[in-house]
Amino acid sequence: MNDLEQFFAANTGRLIHKWHHYFEVYDRHFSRFRGKSPHIVEFGVSQGGSLQMWKHYFGPGTRLDGVDINPECRRFEEPGVRISIGDQADRGFLRSLAKELPPIDILIDDGGHTMEQQIHTFEELFPHVAPHGVYLCEDMHTSYWRKWGGGFRRRGSFVEYAKGLIDGLNAWHSEERGRFDVSDFTRSVHSMHFYDSVLVIEKRPMQPPSHERRGQALFADYVPPKQTNLQRLKRQLKLGEPR
Ligand SMILES: C[S@@+](CC[C@H](N)C(=O)[O-])C[C@H]1O[C@@H](n2cnc3c(N)ncnc32)[C@H](O)[C@@H]1O
Repeated sequence: MNDLEQFFAANTGRLIHKWHHYFEVYDRHFSRFRGKSPHIVEFGVSQGGSLQMWKHYFGPGTRLDGVDINPECRRFEEPGVRISIGDQADRGFLRSLAKELPPIDILIDDGGHTMEQQIHTFEELFPHVAPHGVYLCEDMHTSYWRKWGGGFRRRGSFVEYAKGLIDGLNAWHSEERGRFDVSDFTRSVHSMHFYDSVLVIEKRPMQPPSHERRGQALFADYVPPKQTNLQRLKRQLKLGEPR
């Protein structure tokens, strides 16, 4: 059991609601911030238990910002813990929140989990995550649940949206400039990690990737056959490869 799991297992304080497999994911991506006074933002305060867990895990000096739509959550404000009340689907609220916040080391989206909430929160807050920070969205199984606006391969679900971000990560290799270009996302994201119901995006300032050959070649390299115009056209029209 990692320290977060232990805290959760022993918790008799404020309620925490977590899927068991999340603890391994958290520890894998968050442990490098422990003891370094990080700034953590969590959407979804609920009964305040997870804020206590983060405070314990990251240690003294941690700055926690909890965000929730429920004004009852204000009661969890204490030194080092600020609570903001608002709707994470509301871009105006998110923009004003972002203006008030210092760069975010870790953002955890555990709010209402609808597609609109997850996408708006990502679009408005991701630019405010620090250059070496982490963005984590959890409970993405709602992308498959109709009540939350999801559905298998449904356009507009957060999972489908996140699949699009994979293109952004790889845009250095685009052959279709103008249609598919290097973006701020490409330049600022080191990696995306998909787990059951969780996406973690690790930021790092990126340079165009480079490669080289080293060592002695022993025989001629395999050269992929050039596509004929007909093959290219058929592929574009999705007619399949000729036999
Ligand atoms: C899953 S609970 C959070 C659980 C908590 N982080 C924990 O680990 O115990 C979800 C919270 O999101 C809040 N929420 C729901 N819709 C929201 C919205 N549109 N904007 C902000 N918070 C919202 C709810 O009030 C609720 O407190």
